[in-house]
Amino acid sequence: MRIAFVGKGGSGKTTLSALFSKHVAGTKKPVLVFDADLNIHLPELFGFKESVSPDMYISKLETRATIKKHLIGSNSNIKEIVDLGKTTLPSEGSNLIDIHNLDKSILKDYSVKEDNLHLVVVGTYEDDRIGKSCYHGNLVIFENILNHLVDKDGYVVTDMVAGVDAFANTLHAQFDVLALIVEPTKRSIEVFEHYNHLAKEGGVHKNLFIIANKIRNESDKDFILNHIPERQFIGFFNESEYLREIERTSSPLEISKLEPENIKLLNMIKDTLEVNAEDTEDRFDRIQRLHDRIAL
Ligand SMILES: Nc1ncnc2c1ncn2[C@@H]1O[C@H](COP(=O)(O)OP(=O)(O)OP(=O)(O)O)[C@@H](O)[C@H]1O
Ligand SMILES: [Mg+2]
Repeated sequence: MRIAFVGKGGSGKTTLSALFSKHVAGTKKPVLVFDADLNIHLPELFGFKESVSPDMYISKLETRATIKKHLIGSNSNIKEIVDLGKTTLPSEGSNLIDIHNLDKSILKDYSVKEDNLHLVVVGTYEDDRIGKSCYHGNLVIFENILNHLVDKDGYVVTDMVAGVDAFANTLHAQFDVLALIVEPTKRSIEVFEHYNHLAKEGGVHKNLFIIANKIRNESDKDFILNHIPERQFIGFFNESEYLREIERTSSPLEISKLEPENIKLLNMIKDTLEVNAEDTEDRFDRIQRLHDRIAL
């Protein structure tokens, strides 16, 4: 099962990605988390900061080539590494990555783990590429991995880059649930409307769900309910004293310290993901359609 947390800058993508990942790790099923944001914050929230170095970022040029070569395997349809595009699906000879076997997979050298939770960081601009590349270029290796990832009976969680960038590549099409975080503000509702429009255009409207974050009172709730359709709404995540304290201390997150009503919301996200988990074939069809539209 795959979920990505999306939304405007500062809405709570990283916080909710981290909390949800830690929460579902409690099921003992494998959890693979991707930090796909330019500003890398997940390692700190997981308490992994000391063990994550830029050498582990999968967008590092040499690493991209190594991983791509591995994914291609003996797939004779792909002659060169550059031919493995963002919409290239696995076929005979391709190597897949099974989240139940991460410790023996190509990702073992590019991830940090604690028990059944693994974190992979996509990375930021490489210094020598500033001005020559954009972040979307860095995301292609992430798209390649998602295309070759087997996630049955486990969780893949992504902290996405802010804004609507996921629609500029295949990322919007890669997840069972796109969890859009909105705050009780007019600007956040505008972001929701923009996202909703793009999700309809991109054929992923049924995958788009909303979480209202930083809720303080009934009037915040009314504001949200007046603007968000019921079918898409997961629930309210309240302004959290515990999270405010974390911001002051920079200590790693501990689910047991989170307020009970916020834990309830994490369960509601889990239920939404489980109910909406798609067959791999459905996702592949969607990516194939994108391929037919954009590939040369
Ligand atoms: N429910 C909440 N209660 C209190 N503070 C919160 C809550 N949700 C998020 N925050 C705080 O809001 C700030 C922004 O959250 P976060 O970094 O998760 O957002 P983001 O969407 O990932 O931002 P960016 O776009 O910069 O990556 C952080 O200081 C975080 O601790
Ligand atoms: Mg963030």
